[in-house]
Amino acid sequence: MLNKIIFAIDEVLDKSILDNLFEYIYGIKIGYPLLLKIGVNETINLVHNFIKNDKEIIMDLKLADIDNTMKSIVSQLEFADSYIAHSFIGIEGALDELKKYIDEKNKKLYLLASMSHKGWNDNFYPYIKNVISKIDPYGIVAPATKLQILKTIRKDFPKKIIISPGIGAQGGEFGDALCYGADYEIIGRSIYTSKDPIGKIKEIVKLQEEKINVC
Ligand code: C5P
Repeated sequence: MLNKIIFAIDEVLDKSILDNLFEYIYGIKIGYPLLLKIGVNETINLVHNFIKNDKEIIMDLKLADIDNTMKSIVSQLEFADSYIAHSFIGIEGALDELKKYIDEKNKKLYLLASMSHKGWNDNFYPYIKNVISKIDPYGIVAPATKLQILKTIRKDFPKKIIISPGIGAQGGEFGDALCYGADYEIIGRSIYTSKDPIGKIKEIVKLQEEKINVC
């Protein structure tokens, strides 16, 4: 079975529902909404069965601060495997030190190359591309809602892991991002707002499989 879904959890959900999704997902992405609603300890309890169990736990706080503050944030979320940061904050005094810190902990850094919403301006992608090239993160976040920019990012970074949000609730079609170069599709609301999350995720996997067979 295709294993290309990173489940974005931005709402409180039942632990038993999450546990039942285990075999269908590659990893979990945790955002501010969940963390602020239930706190760090409850978040750890919720994702407990996924930690150190071959499932990547990605902390999506879109870090965008000075090095010291970002390192302090990461140090309080050590249960995660990976952390997402913005690229636009630049290198010296920010991403250089964050990358070093995350490397020392044998964790992974993802940098945002482009956002999935309409208002994001890709005109400054050349600047972002330069930052990503210099920092050399483990992976890149690139949007499923803008397939041409996703394709460009894949071409510019042929060996990086690309994770792609914007599918389902934000309009992207299941499987499209995989066809345009993403390694994984980040999917949240389409699954956790469904009345039948397991049925929904099975349907999504099937749609992804059908799509990649013809792209
Ligand atoms: O619920 P939905 O499937 O839209 O979830 C997408 C997730 O990916 C959300 O957690 C959102 O914050 C995140 N994200 C995004 N666009 C980006 C980066 C992250 O939608 N460019």
